[in-house]
Amino acid sequence: MMVYNSSWQSPSNIALIKYWGKYGIQLPRNPSLSFTLSACHTNMKVEITPDAGIPGLTVLYDGNERPSFGPKIKSFFARIDVHFPWLKNASVLIDSTSTFPHGAGIASSASAMSALALCLADIDDQLNGIAHTKDEVWLRKVSELSRLGSGSASRSVYTTVALWGETDFVKESSNEYAIPWAQHVSPQYHTYQDTILIVSSGEKSVSSSAGHDLMSEHTYASVRYQHAENNLHQLIGAMQTDDGTDVFVSICESEALQLHALMMMGRNPFMLIEPNTVSIIKEVWRFRKESGLPVCFTLDAGPNVHLLYPLHHQRNVLDWIISDLQKFCVDGAFIQDKVGTGPEKIN
Ligand code: PMV
Repeated sequence: MMVYNSSWQSPSNIALIKYWGKYGIQLPRNPSLSFTLSACHTNMKVEITPDAGIPGLTVLYDGNERPSFGPKIKSFFARIDVHFPWLKNASVLIDSTSTFPHGAGIASSASAMSALALCLADIDDQLNGIAHTKDEVWLRKVSELSRLGSGSASRSVYTTVALWGETDFVKESSNEYAIPWAQHVSPQYHTYQDTILIVSSGEKSVSSSAGHDLMSEHTYASVRYQHAENNLHQLIGAMQTDDGTDVFVSICESEALQLHALMMMGRNPFMLIEPNTVSIIKEVWRFRKESGLPVCFTLDAGPNVHLLYPLHHQRNVLDWIISDLQKFCVDGAFIQDKVGTGPEKIN
């Protein structure tokens, strides 16, 4: 029996313009834009036996069996087996590790689902005898597959910055897949830093899927979708040059707070930020005002704070984190991440 395997490292990403609200099969209600990360990533190995006789799925995480991941992966497979018919009768082994806490709002599903899509697309090439160059057309297909696993995963396949979701002013944009956006941003964003302050490393109390669902009945939904689009338009303009940092800062922070405000303003309100999240935000505002450094924050669907800033301010910002912010982090933990170059095949 032939066994095929593929290994990929795929990064997480942090949205600057947030995707919050979906329709159909993981189609976004508004376009989003993200930084691809580097240190936060998933390493995954997938082993497929196509005609195993008995189809099966084994999921290992950090070397231990994780049956709890099975249902999400099975529903992902059910969505993509039209593309990969061999998947229906295959025996599948997925073995992965991540460099960051699972479920803590660091888009673990983005790196995991994009890694899985990359491995499966690679194995499909092997099965079809194609020695693929993994070019942009291939990445677009992988982005679309990743989206079917987790919306934000569609953006993890590209270097530096990715845009996902239709918007009038970007002709090639699509709800089905993300597109690369690195070529449209000034060089400073290619080396931007993202220090993730870990306020809590526990599982989120409300999943992103439940949060997206609540948007369908949300009083402010249509206003939000329009607002996100306007913010995207402005942010794209601001990121084209090094002079747009003030706009970058104000849009990133406004998007982060809007995301959490939407959670608090729904019919079934919930709150994912913690008191220490608020303390950090206030300290960021104080520090920026006093130092004049363009450091800003964004938030994912969780309590942890992403601090974004240009590389050449790294020393000053790190000194400040250690003296004034580390005390708000669980066990003093933070992850020193930065904008990254996208997934890599592991041999
Ligand atoms: O891809 P999901 O379903 O995990 O949703 C991600 C939602 C946010 O992380 C809050 C925003 C985003 O655009 O990544």
